[in-house]
Amino acid sequence: MDKKIIAVAGATGAQGGGVTRAILADPNGGFAVRALTRNPNSDKAKALARAGAEVVAAKVDDAASVKKAFKGAHAAYCVTFFWEHLSTEKEKAQAYNMAAAAKAAGLKHVIWSTFEDTRKSIPLSDDRMPTLQGKYKVPHFDSKAEANPYFIEAGLPVTFLLTSFYWDNLIHFGMGPKKGPDGKLAFTLPMADKKLPGIAASDIGACAYGIFKRGEEFIGKTVGVAGEHLTGAQMAAELAKALGKPVAYQAVTPAVYRSFGFPGADDMGNMFQFKVDFESLYCGNRPLALSRELNPKLQTFAQWLAANKDRIPLA
Ligand SMILES: NC(=O)c1ccc[n+]([C@@H]2O[C@H](COP(=O)([O-])OP(=O)(O)OC[C@H]3O[C@@H](n4cnc5c(N)ncnc54)[C@H](OP(=O)(O)O)[C@@H]3O)[C@@H](O)[C@H]2O)c1
Repeated sequence: MDKKIIAVAGATGAQGGGVTRAILADPNGGFAVRALTRNPNSDKAKALARAGAEVVAAKVDDAASVKKAFKGAHAAYCVTFFWEHLSTEKEKAQAYNMAAAAKAAGLKHVIWSTFEDTRKSIPLSDDRMPTLQGKYKVPHFDSKAEANPYFIEAGLPVTFLLTSFYWDNLIHFGMGPKKGPDGKLAFTLPMADKKLPGIAASDIGACAYGIFKRGEEFIGKTVGVAGEHLTGAQMAAELAKALGKPVAYQAVTPAVYRSFGFPGADDMGNMFQFKVDFESLYCGNRPLALSRELNPKLQTFAQWLAANKDRIPLA
């Protein structure tokens, strides 16, 4: 029997990489993977090819290349790369290109990796948090939500996937515990005493594969995934256990976080404030039981730490 091809954007990255590896790990699942990359000659792309993926050159900014890459596929995993450029307009254009390519290819299932439109909960007129760029509260959330209609209006069989905070941010995004002037480790997060849905980035892709396998049942639905919902204090306690040394939770206010000054700090500060102020909505949108059903190997934070603690920079 011919395998159904799932085309995966960002296949060398966190989300797409997880989808790709989940498909490759299930050779009898009836699916094959087509990995999209800008550079098929990169080490990561070559490793995917060696592992059995069909690797194709495509750039989500280039409509024609995505169209070509989606042709003949059964399904596609669509994700955009906000932090590469911090531009909501670029992000929406990337999403538009993927929706248009999915329509042209007549795909039977599309997963669009999106987020809540935070303005439905906190309108622009609400000054609890600043309005950014004149029209957003959380630009990288709201712009993804603004792209949802591209998939709907194209009449696509789409599943909207709500992702969660990657625990991998502790490794790659400088968000791990840091040594304070007293030499002790502090884990800083603007989450007050509220729960943050988090996940091993690779598990997002594995959950997405679970959605593709169940297919029909999730078309037209929104599905949120998370590995655990943990408070900052609980995360610090798990970090302390894994690292074998004390780690204090240091809650800062979203306003302080916004002022940290790195590119996108205001966007991230507002994002955390949204998660704090709308904890039950945000956690409720990411049910753990369904995430585990979709991906029975879903990791807890403790499991993720056991495998990754040595990769977290503590300087
Ligand atoms: N960090 C978090 O906690 C978090 C949580 C949830 C959601 N998100 C969202 O996740 C999205 C990013 O996904 P990710 O983390 O999977 O990305 P990622 O790991 O940064 O990977 C991006 C991959 O996509 C490829 N890529 C980058 N720009 C591209 C382009 N213009 N055209 C085609 N491919 C391109 C690159 O591969 P090649 O070089 O091989 O082309 C790269 O390996 C962001 O929009 C962010 O908002 C982040």
